[in-house]
Amino acid sequence: MRPLYHYAPAANWLSDPNGLVWQDGEWHLFYQYNPFGEDWGHMSWGHAVSRDLVTWQELPVALAEEDGTMIFSGSAVIDHQGSAGFGKGAMVAVYTGARTDRAHQFQSIAASTDRGRTFTKFTGNPVLDLQMADFRDPNVFWHGPSGRWIMSVVLSEENRAQLYASVDLRHWDLLSDIGRDGAPGHLWECPWMVELPVEGTDETRWLFKVDVLSGAAGQASPWRVGHFDGRRFVPETGWAVGDHGPDFYAAIGWNAAPDAEGRPVWIGWAGNHAYQKYLEPQGWRGAMTLPRRVSLRRDESGYALVQEVEPACRALFGKAEATSLCDGCIPLPSAALLSFPAGKDWSFRIEDDHGRSIECALSGGRLTVRRHDPVTPQLEHRAAMEAGKGPVELWLDAGSLEVFANRGGAVLTLQHRLAGEAWALRGEGACSVAYPAAMA
Ligand code: FRU
Repeated sequence: MRPLYHYAPAANWLSDPNGLVWQDGEWHLFYQYNPFGEDWGHMSWGHAVSRDLVTWQELPVALAEEDGTMIFSGSAVIDHQGSAGFGKGAMVAVYTGARTDRAHQFQSIAASTDRGRTFTKFTGNPVLDLQMADFRDPNVFWHGPSGRWIMSVVLSEENRAQLYASVDLRHWDLLSDIGRDGAPGHLWECPWMVELPVEGTDETRWLFKVDVLSGAAGQASPWRVGHFDGRRFVPETGWAVGDHGPDFYAAIGWNAAPDAEGRPVWIGWAGNHAYQKYLEPQGWRGAMTLPRRVSLRRDESGYALVQEVEPACRALFGKAEATSLCDGCIPLPSAALLSFPAGKDWSFRIEDDHGRSIECALSGGRLTVRRHDPVTPQLEHRAAMEAGKGPVELWLDAGSLEVFANRGGAVLTLQHRLAGEAWALRGEGACSVAYPAAMA
């Protein structure tokens, strides 16, 4: 079943978002893509564009595997000054070239002068090569105060990141390291370093986030907050968890102007390398999460990473209707936005005709989610998080559930394979339900 309001390709494997950049009214979503099938392999950059971050149009593959080199994850920038020599306003993709024999990974660039429709790989590639087997996922942004491009990139097996600077995207100078320093899990991937507003203040702080392929609950997206002086990231906090579910991975943000509150927007792959390959084939495999605005909230205990679904996505839904779950079984279409008011415990279970189910409950401020799947037992999962006192919102779609609590400070993402056009919902508690306007 295709998601109604999440991006999924028409066919084939999708994973990490790549090259997120805004240009001339278009949000570009490139992503890890296998043009030849539903399994991971032949990694290339798929491509979709949107004018509102809500509806997406899929375009042809932007960067394809070639001569035994796959196109692994990376980022894209708009080179307004033409610093890289591809012309003013060129879109420059900075990606990892990964040899198919797994022996060598290096950073390369490619440029587009037609709004991302076609790219030419730079003949001087690679632009950064340490002769390593696991050196990947360059994330580049323009740093105004130092007038340079900054790249964060990971030495995956060593669980550390490096920061580099460049004036032309072709030559990169090492600035500093970001070490593991007690971070959970192993095998660093997909770093993102970004300046975020601190809610209710005129201050900002820098966020550094990575993903870990194994050994951390739900892979966790460990992040910490600190300062960045153009050379060094100096942490101010320890590590925290970005998403409490098992299916939020490889998230990065768009290189774009922030919104009126200074917030950038990021998106993740709603998937998990540990079991993605076991999911039943259905013509395509993999979808993105919703795009989320990100900021920081500070209280006595430190910082919370606050995520709010891109406000434009709300417009997809019709008017919310109050519902009491105690009235027995409610048929629920495959897409809905459920909201539970603050102050009361609740629980519900959604199930399909194959015995698959999702159980969610809030009890004493703790939110638990259980995914049960007798068809694909590898999906069996329990997740939990402290939900705070506020309302809880659950964005349900075919393929995924995203839970937002504690005013965006506690988030949990989970993919699921519930099938059919409508599911049964049973539970205890009062909530409101809204359906996508197209379905109401
Ligand atoms: C994360 C990741 C990246 C890599 C890409 C390859 O999901 O493993 O580190 O660049 O996927 O598809």
